[in-house]
Amino acid sequence: MTTRSIKKSNQHFQKAIHQLPLGVTSNFRYWGDEETIYIDHASGCRIQDIDGNEYIDYRLAYGPYILGYADPRVDQAAREGIDIGGVFALSTELEYEVAQKISSMVPSAELVRFSNSGTEAVMAALRVGRAYSKRDGYIMIEGGYHGVSDSVLWDVDLDEWDPKQGDPQVQPTSHGVPSSIGEMVTLVPMNDANRLEDVLKKKHNEIGTLLIEPILGNCCSIAADPEYIKTVRSLCDRYNIVMVIDEVKTGFRVAKGGVQELYGIEADICTFAKSMANGYPIAAICGKEDFMRIIKYGGVLHGGTFTAHSVAISAAKKTLEIIKSTDALATVNQYGLNLRDGLSRILTDHNIPHSFTGHPSMSGLFFSEKPPTNARDFKSSNYPFYEKLAEELLEFGVLCEFDPREPWFICEAHAKDALDPTLDAFSAALENTLKGESVE
Ligand SMILES: Cc1ncc(COP(=O)(O)O)c(C=O)c1O
Repeated sequence: MTTRSIKKSNQHFQKAIHQLPLGVTSNFRYWGDEETIYIDHASGCRIQDIDGNEYIDYRLAYGPYILGYADPRVDQAAREGIDIGGVFALSTELEYEVAQKISSMVPSAELVRFSNSGTEAVMAALRVGRAYSKRDGYIMIEGGYHGVSDSVLWDVDLDEWDPKQGDPQVQPTSHGVPSSIGEMVTLVPMNDANRLEDVLKKKHNEIGTLLIEPILGNCCSIAADPEYIKTVRSLCDRYNIVMVIDEVKTGFRVAKGGVQELYGIEADICTFAKSMANGYPIAAICGKEDFMRIIKYGGVLHGGTFTAHSVAISAAKKTLEIIKSTDALATVNQYGLNLRDGLSRILTDHNIPHSFTGHPSMSGLFFSEKPPTNARDFKSSNYPFYEKLAEELLEFGVLCEFDPREPWFICEAHAKDALDPTLDAFSAALENTLKGESVE
């Protein structure tokens, strides 16, 4: 039950629902008729709703704010981008500069094309994969999320799954997705190299692309085992599969060279979006020259009216400069470690078994001694307790996603002054949660 006042948000919802489906602009922004809040403004790591409630934000718009909201350095660059004039159905010199910057940070990103969103970048990556391999089938990892295009809105149905009856069923995650697309999709569990090899042995004539987030940024940051990801790379090489690493969440966050640097691997194609412009809408599809050169007349079509808008590309240039030349990511990483330590101390004091997954800049929190290693394990963890705790945290001014599959995102601004208030709020929220429920 809400103890803080969200009267204005409730009133606004009653208006908005008549104009916008669910009263919002993304299904994920709807928290319920009585619970949905509307934002007035945000700065640093704090976000304020229209009722004046302030929250230390660990959702960070699902990840793009690597430096913090309204970062003055990036916003100044964006203002300079306005003066350039927008989009022209022509290119600017800035695109080359930003592409060069990306290539200097991510070795596999030999060539770069810009898109507007992660969804669009992944769509392009899959198209390149199909065109290059000349095979339409593709593999995705259970629990992965790659945006809202028809090709990737597929996952296993873990709600109805009974492990005794074999593998969970694959299904579209939205109505309206053509069922025919399902014939091209094969889902495999994370960290099971044998399963992947079996699939490739049987279906390598149909499958041409493998799409993977080595840290499942939309499934509690469950992380690939380093050995597993290296085996995935070598299986892709052996069976001529285009390996697409989706770095929309991990890129320019978990390391300057993204998850590829962290694991010491190189993708054939990789996609970036969120952190690359600290919240301004831009994405990139990048890759090895051989693969990227098939984007051409008479080859793969890629484009879009708004691609490389001068505001977004200027913001990307500045953000990447900061990430490359300062210790911003080290600060983010250290804060993430400090936060894990602090939360761990509080949970240990209460004898609550727990563990963390992923990377400190985007941690998943679990109420079990060992974190899950794939989406199926997640199903058996005590996530209802997490959901209750997240609701309590909101009352104490800390915003993390209620759905435990979303990690806790850290930005550079958290390191200024957010740790102690977060830990105080966590202690208080935990006490309240425990009054209502057992963690066993
Ligand atoms: C790994 C990954 N890929 C793709 C996307 C889609 O990006 P967008 O929401 O910008 O379309 C997301 C969004 O959360 C993501 O996490």
